[in-house]
Amino acid sequence: MGITVKRLSYGIGAEVLGADLTRPMSDEAIAQIRKAWIDNGIVLIRDQDITPEQHIAFSRRFGVLDDHSALFKYRHPEHAEIFIVTTRPNADGSPSNTRETGVNWHSDMSYTLRPAMGSLLYCLEIPEVGGDTQFANMYLAYDTLSNGFKRLIEPLQAVHTYAWAIHDTEKGRNPEFAKAHIAVNPPVTQPMVRVHPETGRKTLYVSEGVTTHIAGMTHAESQAILQPLFAHAVRPEFTYRHHWRLHDLIMWDNRCAMHKALRDRLPGTHRHMHRTTILGEPSGALYQEAQ
Ligand code: SIN
Repeated sequence: MGITVKRLSYGIGAEVLGADLTRPMSDEAIAQIRKAWIDNGIVLIRDQDITPEQHIAFSRRFGVLDDHSALFKYRHPEHAEIFIVTTRPNADGSPSNTRETGVNWHSDMSYTLRPAMGSLLYCLEIPEVGGDTQFANMYLAYDTLSNGFKRLIEPLQAVHTYAWAIHDTEKGRNPEFAKAHIAVNPPVTQPMVRVHPETGRKTLYVSEGVTTHIAGMTHAESQAILQPLFAHAVRPEFTYRHHWRLHDLIMWDNRCAMHKALRDRLPGTHRHMHRTTILGEPSGALYQEAQ
């Protein structure tokens, strides 16, 4: 069966049908999936009962994989290419450190000098209710700004800070892990408007989960510009909300999409996911406080 592509929503996303990730895939099939991904920002592939090795092998067809050295505490014990996002308690019964990973809007690894190109999240356990992920189209977010606002933000750099990204989740629960990750992820600046290297289209590149302020401005001044942008970027018509099924895999393009894991799981139920991350193009600079 050949690959077919079906749009998921107005704002973002498509489902790819006819792919079998348990078998070697032809270059032609990979090229079709890649095109669907570039055209739609995210692709969903359902019903894939795959091993970590197959997940990694499929992900590698799209680029070089991150070994998650920025998040080294959460790597899969046998596969550094897999980052585990889980609500299952740790072996000693303590709460999972990643049970609230990604709960604020963000684009993966924007707080590093090599933000992720793509992420492939695979569902191994889903609660009966909830555990959804939302995605937002950052081309639409940029395109629908007024020309005046576009001119205002185009030359600006914003500060992206890992320590802020985890402010209300991991820090309080596991200060040791948080400290270790903060130490390897100092704040960086990123352009507020990025050009997608493959499509040449401009995208808005700020997120409420990671962007603290605009370089060269105070926090108060920055918020006057950032808050309307954060709200605008996630207007419902720019987004898609995914209700996961077991063995779904979603691959998103972090260069033009943001995402957010919703806290909509019933107490006592669990969600277990594996993520691979494709390295992107170098971007940004280390943040100098005096800027
Ligand atoms: C992530 O931010 O990569 C995880 C998103 C999710 O768990 O839905």
